[in-house]
Amino acid sequence: MNRVGKTVIASSLVVGSGLAWNLKIAPLRAEPPSGLVPLQSGSLDANGATLREQQRAVRHQPRPRLMAPPTGTAKFGDPLRGLTTAQLAAFTAGKDEFTNVETIESGLGPIFNESSCVACHFTGATGGASSTFVTRFGRLVNGTFDPLASLGGSLLQAKAIDPSIREVVPSQANVIAHRQTTPLFGLGLIEAIPDDEIRANAVASAPPPGGSGGTQPIAPAPSGPAPIGPPPIGPAPINQPPTGSLPTNPPPVGIRPGTGTGGFQPRDFNLAADGILGRAATITDVVSGQQRVGRFGWKAQQATLLAFAGDAYLNEMGITNRLFPTENAPNGNLAKLKAFDHVKDIEDAVDPTTGRSDIDTVTDFMRYLAPPPTVPFTASASAGSVLFDNINCSGCHKPVMFTGSNSIAALDRKPVPLYSDLLLHDMGSLNDGIAQADAGTDEMRTPPLWGLRASAPYLHDGRAATIEAAILAHDGEALNARDRYAHLTPQQRQQILDFLNSI
Ligand code: HEC
Ligand code: HEC
Repeated sequence: MNRVGKTVIASSLVVGSGLAWNLKIAPLRAEPPSGLVPLQSGSLDANGATLREQQRAVRHQPRPRLMAPPTGTAKFGDPLRGLTTAQLAAFTAGKDEFTNVETIESGLGPIFNESSCVACHFTGATGGASSTFVTRFGRLVNGTFDPLASLGGSLLQAKAIDPSIREVVPSQANVIAHRQTTPLFGLGLIEAIPDDEIRANAVASAPPPGGSGGTQPIAPAPSGPAPIGPPPIGPAPINQPPTGSLPTNPPPVGIRPGTGTGGFQPRDFNLAADGILGRAATITDVVSGQQRVGRFGWKAQQATLLAFAGDAYLNEMGITNRLFPTENAPNGNLAKLKAFDHVKDIEDAVDPTTGRSDIDTVTDFMRYLAPPPTVPFTASASAGSVLFDNINCSGCHKPVMFTGSNSIAALDRKPVPLYSDLLLHDMGSLNDGIAQADAGTDEMRTPPLWGLRASAPYLHDGRAATIEAAILAHDGEALNARDRYAHLTPQQRQQILDFLNSI
């Protein structure tokens, strides 16, 4: 794991940025999710922050580590900081398009899931998550997955412009999985992370010399409850805490219930020894035709926002576009398609002078959408951030990655505090049984955890109503971390939850 990167971010971000930025933090909503965040009283200012919060922010020193990036903003749905006037205009036009409701005349359907992007992406602000889910299906026989493409799979379009052509899950399917809508905040930064930086996470999780890299078969998941006490430590060097970035009084970091510190010190886990073996998804990007590292979606199925936009226009709304020019036939039935497909393809017409169409406009919105705002850390949340690292949640939920050089200044070499390695992992019973792009039936992408407080319910199918339920459902490669969490004291668990509700 690249600890050097973490140290750099801690020091570079502490300088000068913390306080001013803290003052602008706004709470997402008055009601905290499941009572995890103390409710602030008092009237709201223009940014939605209470007086108490502002005062607390002033008293609060910049966070010890994992600071918000310079691109951090005041509220969900803001554009990135530092955009040019032209980029801001593109953001606004893109947001308009994102909320635009498609009609039968504009090409909606014949089969579709919703008629606008915002119909699913809205919690916190336009572009957010929601509890809306889509359904995937397929047939798994002897470990081989068939997406049942000739029967309209693997994505179900649950609506239609005429009831007679509505899709159903075919009886041949023996795998059916729900997929929860993910938030789009900060995705421009994630798009700008170089492929190699994601691949390096996999290399870092490969076993020590002698291993064959990050792509070998997943090691058997450790069975039974993890041993209490320090996790298995391989030859990895003991991690030096980033100088000047840890709290002056480190909170107790013990993982033994009731034994205080338990003698457990922050250190670098050998990921492989901890059962963690991520791998980067290699996909063909439909925009460039190039092999790229997939990073978007629960299966890391897309590498670029434009590709995802083209995919969503066709597969969620039934709008054909230059990247995805062919309509979906209802459960594969071409006659039914023909009977109701009256708008000429491609429906998302390309402007001959600019070469652009709606998929590009909507991509501008997503690319310029700022990451979720963070909440100033309480002492409890600060302690939680240390614990999160110590029990090796950060082995997959990597606190920060970096964008490469980018012609857009707001995306150029920026820290991305996403809390993900963007790799695929075998999550045991959490796997959704669907093979998609490069991801196998038994792999899921580590989701970014930033903005978690605005994306309930949790996990790919929304089975977890609370953050804690999501953590306790971890399995497979995350079993050791999960068990360490389960062995924390109630107070320590609350600290982690306070932390996760602040990032
Ligand atoms: C019917 C609901 C629905 C509609 C409509 C919809 N989405 Fe989504 N969106 C989802 C779901 C569900 C996911 C997660 C999909 C997956 O990974 O399988 C998702 C994921 C995404 C992602 C990947 C986010 C990430 O975390 O990596 C992007 C980008 C995206 N949508 C963009 C769009 C755009 C642009 C539109 C409009 C053209 C749109 N979506 C319309 C439900 C929807
Ligand atoms: C082996 C890698 C790995 C480790 C270790 C790990 N996670 Fe996860 N985490 C994942 C993956 C993959 C998912 C998505 C699984 C799914 O939805 O099926 C996930 C999902 C989550 C979610 C739900 C996110 C959402 O948007 O729905 C939370 C919260 C979370 N993890 C917290 C933690 C905490 C806290 C720890 C430490 C106790 C931890 N994770 C350890 C890989 C990991």
